[in-house]
Amino acid sequence: MARMLHSIAGHCFICKVGVGPHFSGQVTQPFRQFLLLAAKLAPTLFRPYRVAVTRLDPYTLRPRFPILHQKINGRPLVYFDNAATTQKPLAVLDASRNYYETINSNIHRGVHRLSQAATAAHEAARTTIARHLNATRDEEIIFTGGTTDSINLVASALGRSSRFKEGDEIIVSGLEHHSNTVPWQMLCERLGLTLKVIPVLDNGKLDLAAYQNLLSERTRLVAVNHVSNAFGTVNEVVHICARARAVGALTLVDGAQSIPHFKIDVQLLGCDFYAFSGHKVYGPTGVGILFGRYDLLCELPPWRGGGEMIKEVSFEKTTYNDPPFKYEAGTPNIEGGIALAAAIDFVNELGLDRVAAHEDALIRRAADLLGELDGITLYGPSERTGALSFNFEGIHHYDLGTLLDQMGFALRTGHHCCQPLMARFGMTGTLRASFAAYNTLEEVENLATALKKALMMLR
Ligand code: ALA
Repeated sequence: MARMLHSIAGHCFICKVGVGPHFSGQVTQPFRQFLLLAAKLAPTLFRPYRVAVTRLDPYTLRPRFPILHQKINGRPLVYFDNAATTQKPLAVLDASRNYYETINSNIHRGVHRLSQAATAAHEAARTTIARHLNATRDEEIIFTGGTTDSINLVASALGRSSRFKEGDEIIVSGLEHHSNTVPWQMLCERLGLTLKVIPVLDNGKLDLAAYQNLLSERTRLVAVNHVSNAFGTVNEVVHICARARAVGALTLVDGAQSIPHFKIDVQLLGCDFYAFSGHKVYGPTGVGILFGRYDLLCELPPWRGGGEMIKEVSFEKTTYNDPPFKYEAGTPNIEGGIALAAAIDFVNELGLDRVAAHEDALIRRAADLLGELDGITLYGPSERTGALSFNFEGIHHYDLGTLLDQMGFALRTGHHCCQPLMARFGMTGTLRASFAAYNTLEEVENLATALKKALMMLR
């Protein structure tokens, strides 16, 4: 019931994939008000039912993460730096080790048994990821080194295409990570394009009215994140992509912070490109994905030259391979791709709806408890995903972060690779607690207690 009400009112999970606020069924305004109120009350009224349906028990999960069972400075590790990178379950560690112990070989390059087995495992990983993202075909999935690499691939390929001419415009948002700003700035400098920025409102959400005004026939690309790594804001990417499409612009969604929290459907998002990193979703570092619409991948030129991305090479002329290989020059991170597929299987085994519900409970509890502390500012909207950023008046985030480390808590401090966003809010950085499926409410409560102690030392 609670889930149903949330869904009807356009909140919770639906809202988080970015379609909620644009719910427009045949619902009258008073009935919609009633639904919104019911959705607000539902978690309380129907708590036992909700828990029974969605509960994910982090305590049964934790034994599958060996790194979590250690002490830091004599205290149990509390790992709240999941937006920076997630810890890895045994299934991922085993996939990686198993690859090297049994089939390690180069792929697409040998008739021998090991090469064929490694190729099959790597291509099966591509299929797993294509299905997970609901891509229309496996060839829409390109293995890269991570989100940054994926975005640079698109910037480089678009820059070499005939899609941009001087005076054209690229739109990013004020919530972006540097990796979804700097590659576009570099491209703008090179081609004489203009970078426009969707402003951030005081509540940490994007100003979508201003976005509408930025769009014009000169807009060639809109690149935004799905979830802000700094504030946990969930952007309305379905709407953002639809508006961009209406003026003929391409869209890229930086999914680094949405991939661990939501079930992603690139067709539902309506984006042309979606980028993410393996290590943010319980997979290894050094491997990531670029989803690209197949016709675009066929049309755009390659970005790196080398082995595998060619059909024929002569000194007079080289012809290029078809997607995805056209964009995968050189030996890829073979083990990384296979272990990433194991990570995707892992989150699907947990059920991303259950993960989302559990993390939602964690972040709400954290915001409630921390919100009571004297002198705190919590950044971002009250509906956050993954990350909770905060500061205390008169106290530097590094000092608090260092004291928390002494007590076993791993939080990130600093600008979170979002200097323009920090400047917008007149600060140099924040403390950020970010959550994963294996975190517990007890850890959240202990963080509030530890913060109280640290504040007493610093005041
Ligand atoms: N982008 C990562 C973070 O937000 C590193 O911490």
